[in-house]
Amino acid sequence: MRFSVKRAVVPLLTLFGVYTLTSALYQLLTCPGKVPRTQMRSIVVRNWNQTQYRYNQNTPMVFVGGVPRSGTTLMRAMLDAHPDIRCGEETRVIPRILSLRQGWGRQTEERWALEEEGVSQEMLDAATTAFLLEVIARHGEPAPLLCNKDPFTLKSAVYLSQIFPNSKFLLMLRDGRASVHSMISRRVTIAGFNLSSYRDCLTKWSNAVEAMLSQCMAVGQSRCLTVRYEDLVLQPRATMQRVLRFLNTPWHEGVLHHEEAIGKPGGVSLSRSERSTDQVIKPVNLEALTRWVGHIPADVQEDIENIAPMLRRLGYNPKANPPDYGQPDPEVINNTQRVLRGDFKSPTNLKRQVSPKIDSKGGRN
Ligand code: A3P
Repeated sequence: MRFSVKRAVVPLLTLFGVYTLTSALYQLLTCPGKVPRTQMRSIVVRNWNQTQYRYNQNTPMVFVGGVPRSGTTLMRAMLDAHPDIRCGEETRVIPRILSLRQGWGRQTEERWALEEEGVSQEMLDAATTAFLLEVIARHGEPAPLLCNKDPFTLKSAVYLSQIFPNSKFLLMLRDGRASVHSMISRRVTIAGFNLSSYRDCLTKWSNAVEAMLSQCMAVGQSRCLTVRYEDLVLQPRATMQRVLRFLNTPWHEGVLHHEEAIGKPGGVSLSRSERSTDQVIKPVNLEALTRWVGHIPADVQEDIENIAPMLRRLGYNPKANPPDYGQPDPEVINNTQRVLRGDFKSPTNLKRQVSPKIDSKGGRN
């Protein structure tokens, strides 16, 4: 028999190729820090009529946030009124986990110590993703598009955009004088904000909104949309049309009547423990738009450009009391008249009452 080099080399090369491929696959499957996305576990949840929904880290989802008292609850309630979207109440644990996770990655010494102990950044990412997904998927009814509203999560938009590659973000913006007057007059405790000082609260508001806006810009326009509270309450139809287009979700008239969906299956679930529940049970109205006017102390007003530089950057004229926020839609004027007549009382099917406090990490105690 004649010896052929070609005949010998081809099977050898084939064997070598099969071996390399198998060992690469084995490495990939057994190396805990390098679990590919497709390996991520899915969460299956059924709704009231047994429709099954499967979620994983590649599932599209939306994060709603902003400085507290910027209309974040109203936005999520309006989204909740859409049959394809579920946000639900604040989870309170998600911003805390995000804050912890950022600490483990940022401080170089801590990071090195963790790496020494075999705790890699990839493992921490996988664990954080699994935790967040579990909480977001299971803390309310399932829906085609899941949403989370914990105001301070927007401080971690860049990180969230990486661990959930198909997520989007809605950053609620509001005139800082109104947000601060809201927290002070309603005694909404937010750790780090001194509720006895407009100056302190406006400074903290400016810093927080600057941090969130820079995260939103880093994530990019295709994934993060800023929405002004003033636009939402003055022109809810045009504003929600813009929001739903951004989320690639079809228009649904229900989003303009969120108050009718409270406590209904697939509708808006509200907890008494949240400080905006008393207001969000009402239809979109103009009660809160300019309530801050006349409450900002004169010395703060004088120095407002230095105290809260983000006012001007966001287009809120710091010298105008109030600025011209725009013209209201007729439906909103009608809603406001109904609200002023006292047509809206707290629904009976709200969840239990506790007294909350927002902590520095963005959760509430
Ligand atoms: P005020 O406290 O100035 O009234 P958040 O949910 O982000 O904490 O924001 C709370 C603000 O949203 C409150 O502002 C509240 O009035 C306003 N809001 C809630 N529901 C609303 C509604 N149905 N129409 C208009 N504003 C609403």
